[in-house]
Amino acid sequence: MIERTLVLLKPDAVQRGLMGEIIMRFERAGLKVVGCKMVWVDKEFSKKHYAEHVEKPFYKGLEAVITHGPVLAMCIEGIEAIATVRKMVGSTEPKGSLPGTIRGDYAHVSYGYADQKGIGIKNLIHASAHADDAAREVGLWFADDELHSYKTVHDVHILE
Ligand code: RTP
Ligand code: MG
Repeated sequence: MIERTLVLLKPDAVQRGLMGEIIMRFERAGLKVVGCKMVWVDKEFSKKHYAEHVEKPFYKGLEAVITHGPVLAMCIEGIEAIATVRKMVGSTEPKGSLPGTIRGDYAHVSYGYADQKGIGIKNLIHASAHADDAAREVGLWFADDELHSYKTVHDVHILE
């Protein structure tokens, strides 16, 4: 039941100086960062990461957003971490993301506004949607030797 999931702090989160606040939320929940690096994604890599969306109308704006600056890529580990992280991230459209979620607390843009402006939606963060996605995405972003197994105090206080 211990899972690993891919989290990206997108360029809008990095440029707004929200990396620390967002990482803190995951750490406070007892989740473990087992891989972490800054990457400036190019268009080719964006198409690999967002393969399922490349043919969709919003892809052009999404690609512009994700390639706009460096992202902070993290592999996060914990009990059923994929669903827990998605819960903490909130729903895709910040306008509808609940308070208490990362997107709900730090963003508010709507699809309507983004579409009217012809821009991608800036929603701060990406998180793998399910187990197959997580396995593929962690493998795409991290080499085996960039992922670390170590103990935190949570291993005693949360897992046992
Ligand atoms: P993510 O993959 O980034 O974690 O986001 P998600 O699962 O919540 O949403 P997904 O459907 O996978 O969409 C990926 C990203 O594409 C942008 N998007 N724009 N304008 C639109 O209709 C639209 N729909 C999606 C968002 O940046 C979303 O995070
Ligand atoms: Mg997604």
